[in-house]
Amino acid sequence: MTGAGMSVESGLSTFRGGGGLWDEYPVEAVATPEGYSANPGLVLEFYNKRRRELAGIKPNKGHELLASLEKSYDVTVVTQNVDNLHERAGSTKVIHLHGELMKACSSRQPNNLEYVKSFSSPLDEINVGDLAADGSQLRPYIVWFGEAVPLMNDAIAAIRDIDAFVIIGTSLNVYPAAGLLNYVPYGVPVYLIDPNEVQVNGVRDVVHIRRGASEGVQHLIDNFLGEGK
Ligand code: APR
Repeated sequence: MTGAGMSVESGLSTFRGGGGLWDEYPVEAVATPEGYSANPGLVLEFYNKRRRELAGIKPNKGHELLASLEKSYDVTVVTQNVDNLHERAGSTKVIHLHGELMKACSSRQPNNLEYVKSFSSPLDEINVGDLAADGSQLRPYIVWFGEAVPLMNDAIAAIRDIDAFVIIGTSLNVYPAAGLLNYVPYGVPVYLIDPNEVQVNGVRDVVHIRRGASEGVQHLIDNFLGEGK
């Protein structure tokens, strides 16, 4: 399970903590349905800017190591990130709980996949007046605060039968995503890769690898993972 910290070494910001995105932009204005209704242009530009950032960055060693684990393991990445760095590193099973910058959807029916479209370039934009196939304003395919998280069920299903659960670079502040931990089957080892302290709710034993994503995944592979399948 990954969060914003996974992409820090690629050059993206986290959301919370000093210099986080939510210091720079009021979260209510750019990441809620109410903010979008009040000022769609501002919200579209916020996500156009986030999308443009993808043009100038690339996956880091942490993303690459996770992708290469697929040679030996059945790996599902459940990410809260809306960037495309896991896919670009080669991960083949990625569940984006909070949506994807490289997709757009209908304002009227954001979760109707019939109206979801993929961008071909990170320089593509959504502007006021661009319409989805149902005739409503096109919007970013992003799950905003206060909206349902439709892929939560897929994430829960994906971890039903796992041998290890690894949390990388998330402060575990945002639900329901953070609640995924509660679905980890009893007895499965849980690893946390984060240079900072993270409050992990519940009584479960967690092995904290107190490093950044790249070094941390390497440490996990070297010290905790077995031979694979
Ligand atoms: N490697 C790994 N983790 C790091 C690194 C690094 N190099 N640098 C920072 N971190 C950690 C921080 O210590 C923190 O625990 O990344 C975490 C980032 O936390 P948040 O900024 O809260 O990001 P995240 O948990 O992904 O946020 C969840 O909040 O606003 C929403 O929708 C947004 O998906 C996002 C959700």
